[in-house]
Amino acid sequence: MRIFEELESRVRGYIRSFPAIFDTARGSHLYDEHGKEFIDFFAGAGTLNYGHNDPAITQALIDYLQRDGIVHSLDKATVAKQQFMQKFRDTILMPRNLDYKMQFTGPTGTNAVETALKLARMVKRRSNVIAFTNAYHGLTMGSLAVTGNSFYRDESYGVRHNSDFMPYDGYLGPEVNTIDYLRRFLDDQSSGVDIPAAVIVETVQGEGGIHVASDIWLRDLEKLCREFGILLIVDDIQMGNGRTGTFFSFERAGIQPDMVTLSKAIGGGLPMALLLMRRELDQWQPGEHSGTFRGNNLAFVAATKALEYWDNDGLASEVRRKGAIMEEELNRLADKYDDVITAVRGVGMVWGLESLTPGLPTDVARSAFDKGVVIELSGADDHVVKFLPALTIDEETLREGLAIIDEALGEVVADRQRRPMQMEAAQ
Ligand SMILES: Cc1ncc(COP(=O)(O)O)c(C=O)c1O
Repeated sequence: MRIFEELESRVRGYIRSFPAIFDTARGSHLYDEHGKEFIDFFAGAGTLNYGHNDPAITQALIDYLQRDGIVHSLDKATVAKQQFMQKFRDTILMPRNLDYKMQFTGPTGTNAVETALKLARMVKRRSNVIAFTNAYHGLTMGSLAVTGNSFYRDESYGVRHNSDFMPYDGYLGPEVNTIDYLRRFLDDQSSGVDIPAAVIVETVQGEGGIHVASDIWLRDLEKLCREFGILLIVDDIQMGNGRTGTFFSFERAGIQPDMVTLSKAIGGGLPMALLLMRRELDQWQPGEHSGTFRGNNLAFVAATKALEYWDNDGLASEVRRKGAIMEEELNRLADKYDDVITAVRGVGMVWGLESLTPGLPTDVARSAFDKGVVIELSGADDHVVKFLPALTIDEETLREGLAIIDEALGEVVADRQRRPMQMEAAQ
Protein backbone atom coordinates (compact mmCIF):
# COMPACT_ATOMS: atom_id res chain seq x y z
CA MET A 1 0.00 0.00 0.00
CA ARG A 2 3.03 2.30 0.38
CA ILE A 3 2.91 3.76 -3.14
CA PHE A 4 -0.73 4.74 -2.68
CA GLU A 5 0.01 6.53 0.59
CA GLU A 6 3.11 8.20 -0.82
CA LEU A 7 1.68 9.42 -4.13
CA GLU A 8 -2.06 9.23 -4.31
CA SER A 9 -4.03 12.19 -3.03
CA ARG A 10 -5.68 12.05 0.37
CA VAL A 11 -8.95 12.24 -1.51
CA ARG A 12 -8.82 8.50 -2.14
CA GLY A 13 -11.88 6.89 -0.60
CA TYR A 14 -12.84 3.29 -1.31
CA ILE A 15 -9.25 2.14 -0.84
CA ARG A 16 -9.74 3.03 2.81
CA SER A 17 -12.96 1.03 3.15
CA PHE A 18 -11.54 -1.94 1.24
CA PRO A 19 -7.82 -2.06 2.06
CA ALA A 20 -6.62 -4.71 -0.37
CA ILE A 21 -4.78 -4.55 -3.67
CA PHE A 22 -7.26 -6.11 -6.06
CA ASP A 23 -5.97 -7.92 -9.09
CA THR A 24 -8.52 -10.06 -10.90
CA ALA A 25 -12.27 -10.50 -10.93
CA ARG A 26 -14.94 -12.66 -12.53
CA GLY A 27 -18.69 -12.45 -12.07
CA SER A 28 -19.39 -11.63 -8.43
CA HIS A 29 -15.94 -12.49 -7.11
CA LEU A 30 -12.88 -10.29 -6.68
CA TYR A 31 -9.37 -11.53 -5.93
CA ASP A 32 -6.58 -9.55 -4.30
CA GLU A 33 -2.88 -9.78 -5.14
CA HIS A 34 -2.49 -12.73 -2.76
CA GLY A 35 -5.41 -14.59 -4.31
CA LYS A 36 -7.81 -13.91 -1.42
CA GLU A 37 -11.39 -14.15 -2.66
CA PHE A 38 -14.10 -11.57 -1.96
CA ILE A 39 -17.81 -11.64 -2.76
CA ASP A 40 -18.75 -8.36 -4.40
CA PHE A 41 -21.90 -6.79 -2.93
CA PHE A 42 -20.82 -3.37 -4.18
CA ALA A 43 -20.65 -3.93 -7.95
CA GLY A 44 -18.71 -0.76 -8.67
CA ALA A 45 -21.51 1.32 -7.14
CA GLY A 46 -23.92 -0.03 -9.73
CA THR A 47 -21.55 -0.21 -12.69
CA LEU A 48 -21.18 -3.96 -12.70
CA ASN A 49 -24.80 -5.03 -13.01
CA TYR A 50 -23.63 -7.80 -15.36
CA GLY A 51 -20.76 -8.80 -13.06
CA HIS A 52 -17.02 -8.48 -13.57
CA ASN A 53 -15.59 -9.49 -16.92
CA ASP A 54 -18.69 -11.09 -18.37
CA PRO A 55 -17.17 -13.62 -20.80
CA ALA A 56 -19.32 -12.58 -23.78
CA ILE A 57 -18.52 -8.90 -23.24
CA THR A 58 -14.81 -9.61 -22.79
CA GLN A 59 -14.76 -11.68 -26.01
CA ALA A 60 -16.52 -8.91 -27.95
CA LEU A 61 -13.88 -6.44 -26.75
CA ILE A 62 -10.99 -8.77 -27.64
CA ASP A 63 -12.42 -9.36 -31.11
CA TYR A 64 -12.93 -5.64 -31.67
CA LEU A 65 -9.37 -4.78 -30.61
CA GLN A 66 -7.90 -7.62 -32.65
CA ARG A 67 -9.55 -6.38 -35.81
CA ASP A 68 -8.17 -2.86 -35.09
CA GLY A 69 -11.61 -1.44 -34.40
CA ILE A 70 -11.39 2.30 -33.85
CA VAL A 71 -11.08 3.20 -30.18
CA HIS A 72 -11.19 6.97 -30.05
CA SER A 73 -13.41 8.99 -32.36
CA LEU A 74 -14.78 12.05 -30.51
CA ASP A 75 -18.31 12.06 -31.90
CA LYS A 76 -17.48 10.92 -35.40
CA ALA A 77 -19.66 8.14 -36.79
CA THR A 78 -18.30 4.65 -36.12
CA VAL A 79 -19.65 1.17 -36.68
CA ALA A 80 -19.44 0.48 -32.94
CA LYS A 81 -21.60 3.51 -32.14
CA GLN A 82 -24.03 2.75 -34.95
CA GLN A 83 -24.51 -0.79 -33.67
CA PHE A 84 -25.01 0.40 -30.09
CA MET A 85 -27.68 2.93 -31.11
CA GLN A 86 -29.50 0.36 -33.24
CA LYS A 87 -29.42 -2.19 -30.43
CA PHE A 88 -30.58 0.35 -27.83
CA ARG A 89 -33.43 1.53 -30.06
CA ASP A 90 -34.59 -1.99 -30.94
CA THR A 91 -34.15 -3.65 -27.54
CA ILE A 92 -34.87 -0.87 -25.06
CA LEU A 93 -36.69 2.10 -26.59
CA MET A 94 -39.09 0.57 -29.11
CA PRO A 95 -40.57 -2.17 -26.88
CA ARG A 96 -41.27 0.53 -24.27
CA ASN A 97 -42.77 2.99 -26.75
CA LEU A 98 -40.15 5.59 -25.88
CA ASP A 99 -39.22 8.09 -28.56
CA TYR A 100 -36.03 9.55 -27.12
CA LYS A 101 -33.03 11.02 -28.88
CA MET A 102 -29.62 10.16 -27.48
CA GLN A 103 -26.81 12.50 -26.56
CA PHE A 104 -23.42 11.02 -25.72
CA THR A 105 -21.66 13.04 -23.05
CA GLY A 106 -18.33 12.70 -21.30
CA PRO A 107 -18.13 9.20 -19.84
CA THR A 108 -19.09 9.63 -16.18
CA GLY A 109 -22.51 10.06 -14.66
CA THR A 110 -22.02 13.64 -13.66
CA ASN A 111 -21.34 14.57 -17.31
CA ALA A 112 -24.82 13.38 -18.25
CA VAL A 113 -26.38 15.27 -15.33
CA GLU A 114 -24.56 18.50 -16.28
CA THR A 115 -25.83 18.10 -19.83
CA ALA A 116 -29.43 17.55 -18.72
CA LEU A 117 -29.39 20.61 -16.46
CA LYS A 118 -27.82 22.80 -19.12
CA LEU A 119 -30.24 21.71 -21.81
CA ALA A 120 -33.28 22.10 -19.54
CA ARG A 121 -32.22 25.64 -18.62
CA MET A 122 -31.53 26.48 -22.24
CA VAL A 123 -34.85 25.14 -23.52
CA LYS A 124 -36.96 26.64 -20.75
CA ARG A 125 -35.01 29.91 -20.47
CA ARG A 126 -35.15 29.55 -16.68
CA SER A 127 -32.21 29.10 -14.36
CA ASN A 128 -33.75 27.41 -11.34
CA VAL A 129 -33.83 23.63 -10.86
CA ILE A 130 -35.58 21.72 -8.08
CA ALA A 131 -33.89 18.72 -6.50
CA PHE A 132 -34.77 16.64 -3.46
CA THR A 133 -33.45 16.14 0.04
CA ASN A 134 -30.72 13.46 0.16
CA ALA A 135 -30.29 13.61 -3.63
CA TYR A 136 -26.98 12.57 -5.18
CA HIS A 137 -26.31 13.62 -8.75
CA GLY A 138 -22.51 13.83 -8.93
CA LEU A 139 -19.75 16.14 -7.82
CA THR A 140 -18.93 18.52 -10.67
CA MET A 141 -20.25 21.99 -10.01
CA GLY A 142 -23.68 21.85 -11.69
CA SER A 143 -24.45 18.39 -10.32
CA LEU A 144 -23.14 19.38 -6.90
CA ALA A 145 -25.67 22.21 -6.78
CA VAL A 146 -28.45 19.61 -6.90
CA THR A 147 -26.75 17.15 -4.51
CA GLY A 148 -27.96 17.31 -0.92
CA ASN A 149 -25.19 15.99 1.28
CA SER A 150 -23.32 18.83 3.00
CA PHE A 151 -20.11 16.76 3.15
CA TYR A 152 -19.80 17.34 -0.59
CA ARG A 153 -21.47 20.75 -0.87
CA ASP A 154 -19.06 22.94 1.05
CA GLU A 155 -20.34 26.52 0.91
CA SER A 156 -16.96 27.86 -0.23
CA TYR A 157 -17.30 26.06 -3.59
CA GLY A 158 -19.92 28.67 -4.42
CA VAL A 159 -22.24 26.24 -6.16
CA ARG A 160 -25.40 26.70 -4.12
CA HIS A 161 -27.04 28.71 -6.85
CA ASN A 162 -30.09 28.26 -9.00
CA SER A 163 -31.33 25.23 -7.14
CA ASP A 164 -33.94 24.60 -4.48
CA PHE A 165 -34.38 21.46 -2.43
CA MET A 166 -37.78 20.01 -1.66
CA PRO A 167 -38.66 17.05 0.58
CA TYR A 168 -38.44 13.64 -1.09
CA ASP A 169 -41.21 11.11 -0.69
CA GLY A 170 -41.50 10.24 3.00
CA TYR A 171 -39.04 12.89 4.16
CA LEU A 172 -41.60 14.60 6.39
CA GLY A 173 -43.07 11.35 7.69
CA PRO A 174 -45.88 9.19 6.32
CA GLU A 175 -48.59 11.79 6.97
CA VAL A 176 -47.18 14.55 4.78
CA ASN A 177 -47.68 14.35 1.03
CA THR A 178 -44.55 16.11 -0.17
CA ILE A 179 -46.00 16.67 -3.65
CA ASP A 180 -48.74 18.83 -2.05
CA TYR A 181 -45.97 20.60 -0.16
CA LEU A 182 -44.08 21.28 -3.39
CA ARG A 183 -47.28 22.37 -5.14
CA ARG A 184 -47.86 25.01 -2.46
CA PHE A 185 -44.47 26.61 -3.26
CA LEU A 186 -45.10 26.56 -6.99
CA ASP A 187 -48.63 27.92 -6.68
CA ASP A 188 -47.57 30.85 -4.54
CA GLN A 189 -45.68 33.49 -6.48
CA SER A 190 -44.46 34.92 -3.18
CA SER A 191 -43.01 31.61 -1.94
CA GLY A 192 -39.50 32.65 -2.97
CA VAL A 193 -39.15 29.50 -5.07
CA ASP A 194 -39.00 30.34 -8.77
CA ILE A 195 -40.75 28.05 -11.24
CA PRO A 196 -37.82 25.86 -12.26
CA ALA A 197 -36.68 24.74 -15.68
CA ALA A 198 -36.63 21.18 -14.38
CA VAL A 199 -37.13 18.86 -11.47
CA ILE A 200 -34.40 16.23 -11.15
CA VAL A 201 -35.17 13.06 -9.24
CA GLU A 202 -33.88 9.58 -8.47
CA THR A 203 -36.73 7.05 -8.24
CA VAL A 204 -34.67 5.31 -5.55
CA GLN A 205 -32.02 7.35 -3.79
CA GLY A 206 -28.92 5.17 -3.85
CA GLU A 207 -26.24 7.29 -2.23
CA GLY A 208 -28.81 9.11 -0.09
CA GLY A 209 -29.68 6.02 1.99
CA ILE A 210 -31.91 3.78 -0.21
CA HIS A 211 -35.13 5.75 -0.15
CA VAL A 212 -37.71 4.35 -2.54
CA ALA A 213 -40.22 6.82 -3.98
CA SER A 214 -43.68 5.30 -4.28
CA ASP A 215 -45.26 4.81 -7.70
CA ILE A 216 -48.02 7.26 -6.89
CA TRP A 217 -45.56 9.91 -5.71
CA LEU A 218 -43.66 9.61 -8.99
CA ARG A 219 -46.88 9.84 -10.99
CA ASP A 220 -48.00 12.90 -9.02
CA LEU A 221 -44.60 14.48 -9.56
CA GLU A 222 -44.90 13.93 -13.30
CA LYS A 223 -48.41 15.42 -13.25
CA LEU A 224 -47.22 18.47 -11.31
CA CYS A 225 -44.35 19.03 -13.75
CA ARG A 226 -46.74 18.88 -16.72
CA GLU A 227 -49.13 21.29 -15.01
CA PHE A 228 -46.44 23.92 -14.45
CA GLY A 229 -44.51 23.36 -17.68
CA ILE A 230 -41.49 22.00 -15.81
CA LEU A 231 -39.23 19.37 -17.36
CA LEU A 232 -38.93 16.10 -15.45
CA ILE A 233 -35.44 14.62 -15.40
CA VAL A 234 -35.04 11.12 -13.98
CA ASP A 235 -31.46 10.44 -12.96
CA ASP A 236 -31.26 6.71 -13.67
CA ILE A 237 -27.49 6.51 -13.42
CA GLN A 238 -27.48 4.12 -10.48
CA MET A 239 -31.00 2.67 -10.55
CA GLY A 240 -31.33 2.16 -14.31
CA ASN A 241 -30.03 -0.80 -16.29
CA GLY A 242 -32.24 -3.31 -14.53
CA ARG A 243 -31.31 -2.62 -10.93
CA THR A 244 -34.92 -2.25 -9.78
CA GLY A 245 -36.31 -5.09 -11.90
CA THR A 246 -37.06 -3.23 -15.16
CA PHE A 247 -34.55 -1.64 -17.53
CA PHE A 248 -35.52 1.90 -16.48
CA SER A 249 -36.33 2.37 -12.84
CA PHE A 250 -39.34 4.60 -13.62
CA GLU A 251 -41.19 1.87 -15.56
CA ARG A 252 -42.88 0.61 -12.39
CA ALA A 253 -44.63 3.99 -12.02
CA GLY A 254 -45.66 4.17 -15.68
CA ILE A 255 -44.22 7.66 -16.14
CA GLN A 256 -42.35 9.09 -19.15
CA PRO A 257 -39.70 11.58 -18.07
CA ASP A 258 -38.69 14.37 -20.44
CA MET A 259 -35.04 13.47 -19.95
CA VAL A 260 -33.22 10.44 -18.51
CA THR A 261 -29.58 10.27 -17.53
CA LEU A 262 -27.81 6.93 -17.86
CA SER A 263 -24.28 5.88 -16.99
CA LYS A 264 -22.60 3.23 -14.81
CA ALA A 265 -23.86 -0.17 -16.06
CA ILE A 266 -24.91 1.09 -19.50
CA GLY A 267 -21.28 0.71 -20.63
CA GLY A 268 -21.14 -3.00 -19.75
CA GLY A 269 -18.40 -2.16 -17.22
CA LEU A 270 -16.63 0.52 -19.26
CA PRO A 271 -17.01 4.31 -18.86
CA MET A 272 -19.98 5.68 -20.76
CA ALA A 273 -22.80 8.13 -20.12
CA LEU A 274 -25.67 9.42 -22.12
CA LEU A 275 -28.70 11.62 -21.96
CA LEU A 276 -32.04 10.59 -23.37
CA MET A 277 -34.35 13.45 -24.26
CA ARG A 278 -37.76 13.87 -25.79
CA ARG A 279 -37.25 14.59 -29.49
CA GLU A 280 -38.48 18.20 -29.35
CA LEU A 281 -36.04 19.05 -26.55
CA ASP A 282 -33.06 18.44 -28.81
CA GLN A 283 -32.48 22.14 -29.42
CA TRP A 284 -28.68 22.20 -29.41
CA GLN A 285 -26.68 23.94 -32.11
CA PRO A 286 -24.20 21.52 -33.72
CA GLY A 287 -21.18 21.17 -31.44
CA GLU A 288 -22.66 23.46 -28.79
CA HIS A 289 -22.05 20.96 -25.99
CA SER A 290 -18.87 19.09 -26.72
CA GLY A 291 -16.16 17.01 -25.03
CA THR A 292 -13.22 14.84 -26.10
CA PHE A 293 -14.33 11.50 -24.71
CA ARG A 294 -17.85 11.17 -26.09
CA GLY A 295 -16.94 8.34 -28.39
CA ASN A 296 -15.62 5.55 -26.20
CA ASN A 297 -16.00 2.86 -28.82
CA LEU A 298 -14.86 0.09 -26.51
CA ALA A 299 -17.77 1.02 -24.25
CA PHE A 300 -20.13 0.94 -27.23
CA VAL A 301 -18.95 -2.58 -28.05
CA ALA A 302 -19.34 -3.73 -24.44
CA ALA A 303 -22.70 -1.98 -24.10
CA THR A 304 -24.10 -3.53 -27.28
CA LYS A 305 -23.15 -7.00 -26.04
CA ALA A 306 -24.54 -6.27 -22.56
CA LEU A 307 -27.90 -5.25 -24.05
CA GLU A 308 -28.32 -8.86 -25.20
CA TYR A 309 -29.30 -9.53 -21.59
CA TRP A 310 -32.48 -7.61 -22.49
CA ASP A 311 -33.39 -9.69 -25.55
CA ASN A 312 -35.85 -11.54 -23.32
CA ASP A 313 -37.31 -11.32 -19.80
CA GLY A 314 -34.70 -13.67 -18.28
CA LEU A 315 -32.59 -11.12 -16.42
CA ALA A 316 -35.55 -9.04 -15.23
CA SER A 317 -37.29 -12.09 -13.77
CA GLU A 318 -34.04 -13.17 -12.09
CA VAL A 319 -33.78 -9.69 -10.52
CA ARG A 320 -37.29 -10.10 -9.13
CA ARG A 321 -36.53 -13.61 -7.83
CA LYS A 322 -33.18 -12.76 -6.21
CA GLY A 323 -34.54 -9.43 -5.00
CA ALA A 324 -37.21 -11.35 -3.09
CA ILE A 325 -34.49 -13.49 -1.47
CA MET A 326 -32.63 -10.33 -0.44
CA GLU A 327 -35.78 -8.77 1.01
CA GLU A 328 -36.64 -11.91 2.96
CA GLU A 329 -33.12 -12.40 4.33
CA LEU A 330 -32.70 -8.74 5.29
CA ASN A 331 -36.05 -8.72 7.06
CA ARG A 332 -34.90 -11.83 8.92
CA LEU A 333 -31.74 -9.97 9.99
CA ALA A 334 -33.81 -6.94 11.03
CA ASP A 335 -35.92 -9.23 13.28
CA LYS A 336 -32.89 -11.01 14.66
CA TYR A 337 -31.07 -7.75 15.51
CA ASP A 338 -34.15 -5.64 16.18
CA ASP A 339 -32.48 -3.53 18.86
CA VAL A 340 -29.99 -2.09 16.33
CA ILE A 341 -31.63 -2.37 12.90
CA THR A 342 -34.17 0.38 12.35
CA ALA A 343 -35.33 -0.24 8.78
CA VAL A 344 -35.04 -2.40 5.69
CA ARG A 345 -35.69 -0.55 2.43
CA GLY A 346 -35.33 -1.40 -1.21
CA VAL A 347 -36.73 -2.74 -4.43
CA GLY A 348 -35.41 -5.17 -7.05
CA MET A 349 -31.77 -5.85 -6.22
CA VAL A 350 -30.94 -2.69 -4.27
CA TRP A 351 -31.50 -2.92 -0.55
CA GLY A 352 -30.48 -1.00 2.53
CA LEU A 353 -30.21 -2.13 6.13
CA GLU A 354 -30.47 0.96 8.33
CA SER A 355 -29.04 1.31 11.80
CA LEU A 356 -29.10 4.55 13.75
CA THR A 357 -26.57 3.18 16.24
CA PRO A 358 -23.58 5.46 15.57
CA GLY A 359 -20.75 3.69 13.77
CA LEU A 360 -22.45 0.29 13.70
CA PRO A 361 -22.91 0.07 9.91
CA THR A 362 -19.26 1.04 9.46
CA ASP A 363 -18.18 -1.71 11.85
CA VAL A 364 -20.40 -4.23 10.06
CA ALA A 365 -18.99 -3.34 6.63
CA ARG A 366 -15.45 -3.52 7.99
CA SER A 367 -16.02 -6.89 9.63
CA ALA A 368 -17.71 -8.18 6.46
CA PHE A 369 -14.69 -7.10 4.45
CA ASP A 370 -12.37 -9.03 6.80
CA LYS A 371 -14.61 -12.06 6.23
CA GLY A 372 -14.51 -11.62 2.45
CA VAL A 373 -17.48 -9.45 1.43
CA VAL A 374 -17.10 -6.07 -0.23
CA ILE A 375 -20.07 -3.92 0.77
CA GLU A 376 -20.64 -0.17 0.84
CA LEU A 377 -22.47 2.25 3.12
CA SER A 378 -24.84 5.02 2.11
CA GLY A 379 -26.91 7.77 3.68
CA ALA A 380 -26.04 11.13 5.19
CA ASP A 381 -24.29 9.57 8.19
CA ASP A 382 -23.19 6.31 6.60
CA HIS A 383 -26.07 4.79 8.53
CA VAL A 384 -27.22 2.33 5.87
CA VAL A 385 -25.47 -0.85 4.77
CA LYS A 386 -26.11 -0.91 1.04
CA PHE A 387 -26.62 -4.20 -0.79
CA LEU A 388 -25.88 -3.82 -4.48
CA PRO A 389 -24.75 -7.18 -5.90
CA ALA A 390 -24.41 -7.83 -9.62
CA LEU A 391 -27.79 -8.70 -11.14
CA THR A 392 -26.16 -11.85 -12.49
CA ILE A 393 -24.96 -13.14 -9.10
CA ASP A 394 -25.84 -16.80 -8.57
CA GLU A 395 -28.17 -17.66 -5.70
CA GLU A 396 -25.54 -19.61 -3.79
CA THR A 397 -23.08 -16.70 -3.76
CA LEU A 398 -25.86 -14.29 -2.85
CA ARG A 399 -26.88 -16.43 0.12
CA GLU A 400 -23.24 -16.97 1.12
CA GLY A 401 -22.66 -13.20 1.17
CA LEU A 402 -25.83 -12.57 3.17
CA ALA A 403 -24.79 -15.24 5.70
CA ILE A 404 -21.44 -13.46 6.14
CA ILE A 405 -23.27 -10.17 6.82
CA ASP A 406 -25.37 -12.00 9.43
CA GLU A 407 -22.18 -13.27 11.05
CA ALA A 408 -20.55 -9.82 10.92
CA LEU A 409 -23.62 -8.19 12.46
CA GLY A 410 -23.72 -10.79 15.22
CA GLU A 411 -20.08 -10.20 16.11
CA VAL A 412 -20.33 -6.41 16.02
CA VAL A 413 -23.45 -6.40 18.19
CA ALA A 414 -21.90 -8.85 20.69
CA ASP A 415 -18.70 -6.82 20.80
CA ARG A 416 -20.62 -3.62 21.51
CA GLN A 417 -22.54 -5.34 24.30
CA ARG A 418 -19.29 -6.58 25.83
CA ARG A 419 -17.53 -3.21 25.67
CA PRO A 420 -19.59 -1.30 28.29
CA MET A 421 -19.28 -4.28 30.64
CA GLN A 422 -15.50 -4.29 30.20
CA MET A 423 -15.36 -0.54 30.83
CA GLU A 424 -17.47 -0.97 33.95
CA ALA A 425 -15.18 -3.75 35.17
CA ALA A 426 -12.10 -1.57 34.56
CA GLN A 427 -13.53 1.33 36.64
C1 LIG B 1 -27.96 8.86 -9.18
C2 LIG B 1 -26.55 9.26 -9.52
N1 LIG B 1 -26.34 10.30 -10.33
C3 LIG B 1 -25.10 10.69 -10.66
C4 LIG B 1 -23.99 10.03 -10.18
C5 LIG B 1 -22.62 10.49 -10.56
O1 LIG B 1 -21.98 9.57 -11.37
P1 LIG B 1 -20.39 9.62 -11.52
O2 LIG B 1 -19.83 9.26 -10.19
O3 LIG B 1 -20.08 8.62 -12.57
O4 LIG B 1 -20.06 11.01 -11.94
C6 LIG B 1 -24.16 8.94 -9.32
C7 LIG B 1 -23.02 8.22 -8.74
O5 LIG B 1 -23.09 7.48 -7.81
C8 LIG B 1 -25.48 8.55 -8.98
O6 LIG B 1 -25.70 7.52 -8.15
